Amino acid sequence: MARTTDIQKAAGVLRAGGLVALPTETVYGLGANAEDPAAVRRIFEVKGRPPSHPLIVHIGDAERLDDWVEDVPKTARLLAERFWPGPLTLVLRRGPRVPLEATGGLETVAVRVPDHPVALELLSAFGGGVTAPSANRFGSVSPTTADHVRAELGDAVDFVLDGGACHVGVESTIVDVTGDAPGILRPGGVTREDLEAVLGSPVAVPATSTVRVPGQHPSHYAPRARVVLVAPERVVAEAEQARAEGHRVGVLLPPSFTDAPAGAHAVVAVPESMAAYARGLYGALRELDQQGCDLIVASLPEQEGLGLAIANRLRRAAGPRPA
Ligand code: TXA
Ligand code: MG
Repeated sequence: MARTTDIQKAAGVLRAGGLVALPTETVYGLGANAEDPAAVRRIFEVKGRPPSHPLIVHIGDAERLDDWVEDVPKTARLLAERFWPGPLTLVLRRGPRVPLEATGGLETVAVRVPDHPVALELLSAFGGGVTAPSANRFGSVSPTTADHVRAELGDAVDFVLDGGACHVGVESTIVDVTGDAPGILRPGGVTREDLEAVLGSPVAVPATSTVRVPGQHPSHYAPRARVVLVAPERVVAEAEQARAEGHRVGVLLPPSFTDAPAGAHAVVAVPESMAAYARGLYGALRELDQQGCDLIVASLPEQEGLGLAIANRLRRAAGPRPA
């Protein structure tokens, strides 16, 4: 765990324009001073991320939201009060403190207050906003431990703050509150049901996250191994067939099955609890890669609660790969 001296050191790195990997409750972030365009540009270089792909600004206190955005509609205020610190990101109109480098040229900005003691200590010691995408190379699986970050980014990061394993395990829920009705842009750690309970009205989720349309999910959150999604009752047969075709098959075995498919190279048993599944999902995908699987067979969980975010990530992981 990070000590006070580590926090001071990390804050110094941010002030000097460097990059710090920091723990949050969702996944590890690759952070830079949000107000330093050169430092923000370095994030894109290290990740290999297209500069048009906007980042999230992390702040230490919901009370400071107005420092970063143009105006805060009532719904945004309500959601911030209810869910911050926590795995919710709000998209609002960009304030002048946020450089266009951080927003991919957009006039809106994504902001959140992370719920992790180490992240909050860093934000407090640093004093400003920290813009941070997940600390992985563009398109790959997000890191949920400091070791994942070190393994993937190594010396490209100036300092890695170790805050232990992330307890949510999938990224924050992104809600656009710039329009008339709030809409979910990415399902995540705060569930749609939680949002609807607070707002007292239905919240839209983009069609791409609820309907499986082949070809519309360019791969992201993806391990090296190809991911194939089938119905739960087809997982074992699919794995056995792939094995017969010569694949080194990894399996995310649904909780209703206890017998691992014969010939599977590696098996991860999916826990019954969606919270535990979310927490372990990226670690499991990394583990199957590490064990040398070239194909992972999995199925989608029920798309309610955290299952919506898990299904979204699995679908993106199974999406078509760039040539
Ligand atoms: O849990 C999380 O959100 C983690 C931790 C580190 O906070 N961060 C994260 O960042 O997942 P990243 O960069 O991997 O994903 C941020 C997402 C992107 O899909 C981006 O398109 C979206 O946020 N985003 C950022 N700014 C936006 C904006 N102004 N409008 C719409 N989407 C935006
Ligand atoms: Mg990411």
